[in-house]
Amino acid sequence: MKRFSSLASALAVVTLAAWTAAVGACIDVGFYDQTCPSAEALVQQTVAAAFVNDSGVAPALIRLHFHDCFVKGCDGSVLIDSTPGNRAEKDSAANNPSLRFFDVVDRAKAAVEAACPGVVSCADVLAFAARDSVVLSGGLGYQVPSGRRDGQVSTEQNADDNLPGPTSTASQLATGFARKNLTLDDIVILSGAHTIGVSHCSSFTDRLYNFNSSDKIDPALSKAYAFLLKGICPPNSNQTFPTMTTLMDLMTPVRFDNKYYLGLVNNLGLFESDAALLTNTTMRALVDSFVSSEAAFKTAFARSMIKLGQIEVLSRSQGEIRRNCRVINPTTTQLVAAS
Ligand code: HEM
Ligand SMILES: *[C@@H]1O[C@H](CO)[C@@H](O)[C@H](O)[C@H]1NC(C)=O
Ligand SMILES: *[C@@H]1O[C@H](CO)[C@@H](O)[C@H](O)[C@H]1NC(C)=O
Ligand SMILES: *[C@@H]1O[C@H](CO)[C@@H](O)[C@H](O)[C@H]1NC(C)=O
Ligand SMILES: *[C@@H]1O[C@H](CO)[C@@H](O)[C@H](O)[C@H]1NC(C)=O
Ligand SMILES: *[C@@H]1O[C@H](CO)[C@@H](O)[C@H](O)[C@H]1NC(C)=O
Repeated sequence: MKRFSSLASALAVVTLAAWTAAVGACIDVGFYDQTCPSAEALVQQTVAAAFVNDSGVAPALIRLHFHDCFVKGCDGSVLIDSTPGNRAEKDSAANNPSLRFFDVVDRAKAAVEAACPGVVSCADVLAFAARDSVVLSGGLGYQVPSGRRDGQVSTEQNADDNLPGPTSTASQLATGFARKNLTLDDIVILSGAHTIGVSHCSSFTDRLYNFNSSDKIDPALSKAYAFLLKGICPPNSNQTFPTMTTLMDLMTPVRFDNKYYLGLVNNLGLFESDAALLTNTTMRALVDSFVSSEAAFKTAFARSMIKLGQIEVLSRSQGEIRRNCRVINPTTTQLVAAS
C-alpha cells in the first residue's frame, strides 16, 4: 500500500507538470482518446518490437524528436524527404548521416493510419515514440500532451540555423536553448539523453587531433579516453571511415540512467558541448546533483521532455495531418492532375 501511494504521487507530479506545460500550447494529454483511442498503444508496440531487435532505436527516436522540435517546432518537419526542388532538414550536416530509424516512425504511422486514417499527426507519433524509447531504455514514463499538427516546410537552412553543434560552448548552448524557451537547467537535463546512443567520429575528432594545446588534445577530455577514441577514429577517419560510430556512455551504453553525468565529471563527456556543462557553476551544480541522484535526473528528464515537446507546436486548424510522414500532403489540384 505504501509502495502504491508513493508511485501514485510520483505519477501525479509528472501528470501535473504535463497539464500546466500544455496550457500555453493548445495540446493536451489524451487528445486522441475519442478519435483514435489505440494510437499511443500502436506506436508503443511498433517501437517496442523494433527496440527488441536493435536497442539503437531508442536513442535514434529520442534525438529525432529533439531535432524535430528545435527546427520550426515539433511539427514532424524532420521526417520530410528532400525533393528535386528542396533539400530538407534531414539532409543537413547535423542530421545526415546521423539521424536513423526513420523506418520505425513510418511503421508506427502506418499502424495508426490503418486504425484511424488521417487523424494522428506525424509530429505526435514521433513525440509518443520518443517517450516510449525513454521507457524502454529504463527512464521514467510521462504523459505526452498531443494534438500537434504537421508542418509543410522543411529546409536544410532551417536545420543549420537552429541545431546546436558538438563544439558549442556553455554560452552558445544557453543562447540556442533560450530561443526555444528552454533554460540552463533544461540544457543540463536534456543533455542527459547522451546516456544512450552513438556518435560518428566527425562529431569529436577536432578534440583529438586539432585542438589548440601542446599535444593537440582537448585538455577537458580524459587522456586515456582520448587515446581510446584515437584508436576508434584515426586521423582522416572522416573520409576513410565515415560510418564509424562509438558509444556515448561507456559505462552503461544502452541504459537510460545517470551514468552520463558520472562520466562527465570524470572527463568522459564525448563532445565539447558535453564538457561545456562543467564550465558554468550553475550547470555544474545540477550535473553534480544528478551524479548523486538518479531518481532526480529521471524525474527532471521527463519534465523537460514535455517542455521540449511544446516548442512552437501547430494545433487545431494549423498545418495538416500528413498521410505519409515523408511527404507533404498533395493538394486537391495535384490529386486531380494526377488522376
Ligand atoms: C545540448 C546540445 C546538444 C548537442 C550539441 C548534441 C550533439 C549531438 C551529436 C553531435 C550527436 C552525435 C551525432 C553523430 O555524430 O552521430 C548526438 C547524439 C545524440 N543526441 Fe545529442 N546533442 C545535444 C542535445 C541533445 C538533446 C537535447 C537530446 C534529446 C533530448 C539529445 C539526444 C541525443 C541522442 C539520443 C543521441 C544518440 C543518437 C543515436 O544513437 O542515434 N541530444 N548529439
Ligand atoms: C533488425 O535489426 C537489424 C540491424 O539493425 C536490421 O538490419 C533489420 O532490418 C532489423 N529487422 C527488423 C525486422 O526490424
Ligand atoms: C552560466 O551561464 C549563463 C548563461 O550563459 C549565465 O547567465 C551565467 O552568468 C553563467 N553563470 C556562471 C556562474 O558562469
Ligand atoms: C516562447 O514563449 C513566448 C511567450 O510565451 C512565446 O510567444 C514564444 O512563441 C515562445 N517561443 C518558442 C520558440 O516556443
Ligand atoms: C571532420 O568533420 C567535421 C565535420 O564535418 C569537421 O568539423 C572536422 O574538421 C573534420 N575533422 C578532421 C580531422 O578532418
Ligand atoms: C592557442 O592557445 C594559446 C594559449 O592559450 C593562445 O595564446 C593562442 O592565441 C591560441 N591560438 C589560437 C589559434 O586560438
